[in-house]
Amino acid sequence: MAETAKLTLGDKTYELPIHVGTENERSIDITNLRAETGYITHDPGYGNTGSCLSAITFIDGEKGILRYRGIPIEELAEKSTFLEVAYLLIVGNLPKAGELSTFTESIRRHTMIHEDFKAFFGALPKDAHPMASCSAAVGALSTFYPDSLDPRDQRQVEISIHRTLAKFPTLAAYAYKHSIGQPFMYPKNSLDYVGNFLYMMFGNPCEEYEVDPVIEKAIDLLLILHADHEQNCSTSSVRLVGSSKVNIFGAISAGINALWGPLHGGANQQVIEMLAAIRDEGVTGREFVERAKTRNDTSRLMGFGHRVYKNFDPRAKIIKKACFDVLDKLGVHSKMLEIAVELEEIALKDDYFVERKLYPNVDFYSGVIYNAIGTPSNMFTALFALGRMPGWIAQWSELHRDTEFKIGRPRQTYIGEPLTAYTPIAER
Ligand code: SDX
Repeated sequence: MAETAKLTLGDKTYELPIHVGTENERSIDITNLRAETGYITHDPGYGNTGSCLSAITFIDGEKGILRYRGIPIEELAEKSTFLEVAYLLIVGNLPKAGELSTFTESIRRHTMIHEDFKAFFGALPKDAHPMASCSAAVGALSTFYPDSLDPRDQRQVEISIHRTLAKFPTLAAYAYKHSIGQPFMYPKNSLDYVGNFLYMMFGNPCEEYEVDPVIEKAIDLLLILHADHEQNCSTSSVRLVGSSKVNIFGAISAGINALWGPLHGGANQQVIEMLAAIRDEGVTGREFVERAKTRNDTSRLMGFGHRVYKNFDPRAKIIKKACFDVLDKLGVHSKMLEIAVELEEIALKDDYFVERKLYPNVDFYSGVIYNAIGTPSNMFTALFALGRMPGWIAQWSELHRDTEFKIGRPRQTYIGEPLTAYTPIAER
């Protein structure tokens, strides 16, 4: 007999099916709750609500575990590459050598964007936030490829996936170049995925640009660590928008906007600005941590806390180590890294953070590396989006293969006015 949950409402008891996950997580299936009981559930922020059965990423927030398709993030960080992880997330298994080279070559051949995107970016203000430019540009991709927008046509889906993965680095780099008044750099097919992005970001037509292998490896690692994270805010946005059967570009554009928020991916920009403010204002780490604890003060300890991780975010541990390795190899001293380490040490011993199980998350240290390689802070979240692109694509694809697929449409409990007659303006 399959497991069930019993729900008693008044004098009636209902049995609800239970789903048991690979790692023995359990979920109560309420698909028929309203039809059988007339009740709906209430769960602000969906902290207790599963939106899907998914085979892509597993997180155990209590144990600080993160796996892509069952493979621990620590192993992928050490042994894999970003495009291999993208294949793993999207296709579902690690590629054989031939499969990886075919995938890599296809991505390489789709990095160029339509020439009219120059006019598109040219119409934006110089100080446009890159996340605004990127979400608009990805949405606009649908206007250039009207022949490949059907989310249920496998051939159109495959070419759209490759175009999205391949063109986002170019679009992000164009957003940056536009903001600093430098010419756009066409992608160079002789470079690898990350090297090409660095070239388009930091190269210029007046001189040769040499990709620094230390920086290329560091960014590749950061992209792996950001690649997916199950049903976070932006991925849930991609799924909800995607559930209307809009094309992939429209769904991903929604995800970019959700990620931009300071409570989500936008936190990486907030962290570096927080560290710079502490450095420049001469505030001590202890003083800042005290401020972060007071409810009326808006200065949260950005990069700390997580809806799911109530233990260390495994990504933060890997990124912290990478900070020291990369800065050492680059011969860069970072006062902000020192401040970050001090804040972490203070917070992890402070009852306020311990009681609330607040630990460094993926955003706490990532900006130190981005900053060390010369990336402006308003591009940090665009780099988060670059990393998360395969995860959004994989989750969007799984949504459309889901036998339980239906348009997302949550319910509500109405607490407004009872039936009310219209009052003519003369009587108001
Ligand atoms: C990402 O979901 C994902 O997987 C996201 C992500 C991914 O890969 O996609 O991991 C990426 O978005 C990481 C999170 C980045 N955001 C930040 O670093 C912003 C700072 N953190 C918080 O705002 C907060 O921790 C959240 C948004 C991350 C989580 O919010 P929750 O789960 O809704 O928790 P909460 O805001 O209700 O906080 C619980 C308590 C509150 O205090 P009390 O009301 O109990 O007194 O903890 C406090 C909060 O005030 N708190 C913090 C804090 N984070 C939570 N206090 C000070 N500093 C913080 N950073």
